Amino acid sequence: MDDGETLPGEAAQADSQPPSAVTSLEFVGAEVVERLRRQPGGRELLEMAKYRQDVYLVGGAVRDLLLDRAPRELDVALDGEDLSLRRDAAVFARELASSLNVLAGEDVTKVNEHERFITAGVVWDAGQIDIAIARREHYSKPGALPEVESTSISEDLRRRDFTVNAIAVGLGGSQLGKLQPARHALEDLRERRLRVIHDASFEDDPTRLLRLARYNARLDFAIEEHTEELARQALNTGALDTVSGARIGAELRLALSEPQAPDALEAMRELGVLAAVHPRLRHDPELVAGALELLPADGSKEVLLLAALVLPLVLRADGQPQAEARALLDRLEFPQGDRDRAVAAAVAAVRLHDVLPRCERPADLYEAASEDPIEGVALAGALNDAAEAARRWLEEVRHVSLAIDGRDLLAEGVPQGPEIGRRLHEVLLMRLNGELGEGRDAELAAARKLS
Ligand code: CTP
Repeated sequence: MDDGETLPGEAAQADSQPPSAVTSLEFVGAEVVERLRRQPGGRELLEMAKYRQDVYLVGGAVRDLLLDRAPRELDVALDGEDLSLRRDAAVFARELASSLNVLAGEDVTKVNEHERFITAGVVWDAGQIDIAIARREHYSKPGALPEVESTSISEDLRRRDFTVNAIAVGLGGSQLGKLQPARHALEDLRERRLRVIHDASFEDDPTRLLRLARYNARLDFAIEEHTEELARQALNTGALDTVSGARIGAELRLALSEPQAPDALEAMRELGVLAAVHPRLRHDPELVAGALELLPADGSKEVLLLAALVLPLVLRADGQPQAEARALLDRLEFPQGDRDRAVAAAVAAVRLHDVLPRCERPADLYEAASEDPIEGVALAGALNDAAEAARRWLEEVRHVSLAIDGRDLLAEGVPQGPEIGRRLHEVLLMRLNGELGEGRDAELAAARKLS
């Protein structure tokens, strides 16, 4: 659907008489099955489902195959209406894993089982297939995790977030290639539109507010008007306050890892999601674009975006500028390493954006920035008129190192202790400023002279 106008199969029929809706859907469904066959694990999945009426591909995988994009994982639902069949996601996952293992000739898969949600998953190097019994969900209170009960595929589709994520395709028996779209689903996919399935969707699961922004950016789908109104209403009535920080954080991390993460953050800002997470979170698209442009390949885009988000929190320099940002990232359950690096980067950006433009010599850059995360330097470069200094540090100066080390100085008779570090530091500054000749001998000679 590259041109955004047709679903697969529709173009092929353009010359013929207008097909009946059923024929057209069969066409589309058959194409989805063919595309599935080319995905990792797709052939094995279809083989297992061959004689079964109850196996469906659902959710994002169907959406992506219809859009001719590679799904991140394959989501399978087993129709759970006929309880006498005692459907079991774990049994299905284990069988699927063993057929993938037979193919690979070794045990390459990992099976995860989650009884509470009657789901199981198979993960291996090349892919991931998640299996669930089709279910209805009941939320004991807004924002709570749902209570689940098995049901039919069509009812399962109705509990989902957006129409384009609510299409099922049968994978076996007489259901093979049959599409079951939720109401409006195919039309919304064709029109590239995000629409909730029912009006209480964001109250049931407020993390969908963050998903809305993420899909808006990733798929470049517009948000349907009524859906946007519902989203703003939910935010205004504090829907996100009912959700744990961990769940909000998990969705935020997914957004940060998207290739279009800055757009997802912009959509969150625009909808008011960021302000609902914390009133002083900020996303400044121009700042972020400038900083990303400066960020070298060994930097982390996620850390940079996170640092930019919490920048206003560390700007308020009252004794403990980091405390509030750290507390927020802890509430959102960011891993400690990312939290510390993002906060350090934000603090560095605030300090460096003044300092960097005044750094005239490479050694000044070293003294200013050598202890700081590179994401902080990139942000500082974009914050002020400091892009050139930041680029010079990031691309050249930080890679300069000495050929000699502490052992060389020990061998020269310098006593063990801080003196070694002091001399190495001084020699490095000379090396950076171009005050030394080529090679280690010049460095050793300079170190000897320092006393
Ligand atoms: N879903 C939902 N509400 C949520 C999370 C998920 O309704 N809060 C449903 C959607 O139908 C979604 C499916 O569960 O398509 C699978 O969820 P997930 O794997 O998170 O999403 P995908 O659509 O597969 O998206 P992605 O491509 O990001 O994996």
